Amino acid sequence: MTNSLRRAVPRVWALAIISILLLALPGLSQRHSAPKVDGPWMNASLSPDQRADLVLKELTLDEKIALLHGVGMPTDDPVTPDNAASNRGVGYVVGVPRLGIPGIDMSDAAYGVRSSGVNGRYSTALPANVAAAASWDTEAAFEYGALIGRELRAQGFNMSLGGGVDITRDPRNGRTFEYLGEDPVLAGTLVARLIEGTQSQHVIGDIKHYAFNDQESGRNSVNIHIGERAARETDLLAFEIGVTKGHPAAVMCSYNRVNGDFACENKFLLNDVLKKDWKFPGFVLSDWGGTHSDAKASAAGLDNEEPGNVFFDARFKAAVQAGTIPMAELDDHAHRILRSMFAAGVIDYPRQRSVVDPFAGLEVARKIEEGGIVLLKNERGALPLAAEKLHTIAVIGAHSDVGMISGGGSAQVDPIGGNAIMPPGKGATHWQDHVWFPTSPMKAIQARAPHATVTYNSGEDAAAAALAAKGADVAVVFAYEWESEGMDLKDLSLPEKQDELIAAVAAANPHTIVVLETGSPVTMPWVGAPAAILEAWFAGSDGANAVGNVLFGKVNPSGKLPNTFPKSEADLPHPVLTRPPLASEQFSGPVSPLERAQGLPPFEVAYDEGLKVGYKWFDAEKKPVLFPFGFGLSYTSYGYSGLKVSAGDKVTATFTVANTGARAGAEIAEVYAALPANAQEPPKRLVGWSKVKLNAGEKKTVTVEIDPKYLSIFDEQKGGWTLVPGAYTILVGGSSQSLPLKAAVSLK
Ligand code: BGC
Repeated sequence: MTNSLRRAVPRVWALAIISILLLALPGLSQRHSAPKVDGPWMNASLSPDQRADLVLKELTLDEKIALLHGVGMPTDDPVTPDNAASNRGVGYVVGVPRLGIPGIDMSDAAYGVRSSGVNGRYSTALPANVAAAASWDTEAAFEYGALIGRELRAQGFNMSLGGGVDITRDPRNGRTFEYLGEDPVLAGTLVARLIEGTQSQHVIGDIKHYAFNDQESGRNSVNIHIGERAARETDLLAFEIGVTKGHPAAVMCSYNRVNGDFACENKFLLNDVLKKDWKFPGFVLSDWGGTHSDAKASAAGLDNEEPGNVFFDARFKAAVQAGTIPMAELDDHAHRILRSMFAAGVIDYPRQRSVVDPFAGLEVARKIEEGGIVLLKNERGALPLAAEKLHTIAVIGAHSDVGMISGGGSAQVDPIGGNAIMPPGKGATHWQDHVWFPTSPMKAIQARAPHATVTYNSGEDAAAAALAAKGADVAVVFAYEWESEGMDLKDLSLPEKQDELIAAVAAANPHTIVVLETGSPVTMPWVGAPAAILEAWFAGSDGANAVGNVLFGKVNPSGKLPNTFPKSEADLPHPVLTRPPLASEQFSGPVSPLERAQGLPPFEVAYDEGLKVGYKWFDAEKKPVLFPFGFGLSYTSYGYSGLKVSAGDKVTATFTVANTGARAGAEIAEVYAALPANAQEPPKRLVGWSKVKLNAGEKKTVTVEIDPKYLSIFDEQKGGWTLVPGAYTILVGGSSQSLPLKAAVSLK
């Protein structure tokens, strides 16, 4: 048992006892399940579609309509007859209790179950999604989703609002931490496994925000312009992989407009691409307040309005009765919702409240973080630290004595015991608070170097911090940048004069280690100065122990960057992020509630970088970067040899990876393809990878099978993916800019 766990135990058990008492209260545990009914739809040997049709036949018009909308936000709203049976999450759809169809109880769950604190319940904060992406580990992604599913169920929810996969088109996006990086194949593959993990727990899984919600500034009004090929090969490819491989029961459409129409009433996105091309059988729900019409949205493919009922309730019913919305359309929406409930198992395996296992949660969170930490620099063997040789360690940086920062907004998980920087008893978290998890880097370091004197300096005064660092054997600076939904970063530099702090400390002590707690890439004017740099992201409930294990070499770092770290914002496709003119974020003059719901006037943003997102931009424009996509060091070294590419039904790349150093480790071997010149693509794209565990001196032969779609382009004329015949180059190595193996293959 680790020290922090030991300290957490009394609080955890206190909560567990409270939860058990709550469970024992008569009626409470039953309150959430629909009465047991034995209709023919309860026959589990029928398909979800057959079962949904059997239910549909029994429904009145009002019951069908009731499935199409939420009843407000139970977290914020007073108890009403409609939401009384809910679990007080962010959304609730009343089911059809007389037929044994339970309500859909939704909770945000990007990196853990949101707002458990207000319910007096524990939930694990996993490392931010971007940290899981940095592990490139598909099994870790499954575990990530499964833990979320387990804890949702234990808390009485049956639907997750996780699964964010908008790609990092602009690293200043305040939700970068909630997403899975800039590459659609990496992000799509990982989100698919995450969704499978969540749904393995009989919880409805979700993928969001569909689509092109790649900036938060003006998200309720921005109109994104993008051509079809660029759309299909970038953000939409991430969703395509997530939807077709992960089979989420639900897709959340986003706030923004795309080529003129709001995403939640965008026929191209919803009906043409998602439901027709990708054959998505589940339901589309709007982001919160993202529904802007009834007939138009319904015809475009929106199935469910959240969180309220402005358009998909009385107005919808009147339109059906007037014949402006066909009954078949209503039936299709209701069918999709019901079939998804059957498919996810929320009817056959009703929710059963139980107590979250905090020990299991901390362990999963720690392991995922350990796999996602990226070692960006390590000179003169500065890391790992040798505890027995250290007499004094200076720990420097805001709150590194008590906690680690987390990402905000609707993703925010409440720390058990409250925000580490608030006085005891004042720990409740509020929207866009900076929430520090009570996982103390200083204590984690002290626990691993019990004989050393560990000092703390907040870093507010760079000169004082430098003085503290000067006499120490090693200085560890924890630097952070908070980010959140509802805002974008002003730029990519560290806030609060932390650049100056790091420069001053590194000048005072050559053995300075910088640990970054950020969701987005940061610029590093001081990059040459410290001996080592670790990117620890938003590290989750047990982040300090994960960082401690990497610093002291118990864990050999193996993460690689899922986002390019540019040298400067000036090198981005849009050096200046387009923010809304003030007028378009407000209504001018008085407006009716309906006008308000219909949405704000647009402002225009062109994604004219086209296919060149992330490293594809920097490659094509030949712009040097600070740290490239796919980059990450280890305490050992790896060698690559013997690439053979075969082109049968599928192209496969076979090669050998050797651990040429003295420690066991795991290497992410990356496979890229350069397409024939007439495909008119950026220089290369990721087409596969394998995370290979190797003991010191060990070699393994690895085969990576390449999905033909990942070698194809989207042909707008044909309306589909097509392989351009010609000469392809397959490149293999340890980062997008270190690809020692190359082989040509001709494809027809
Ligand atoms: C966010 C969604 C979230 C929803 C419910 C919206 O503001 O964009 O990601 O699921 O709120 O909290």
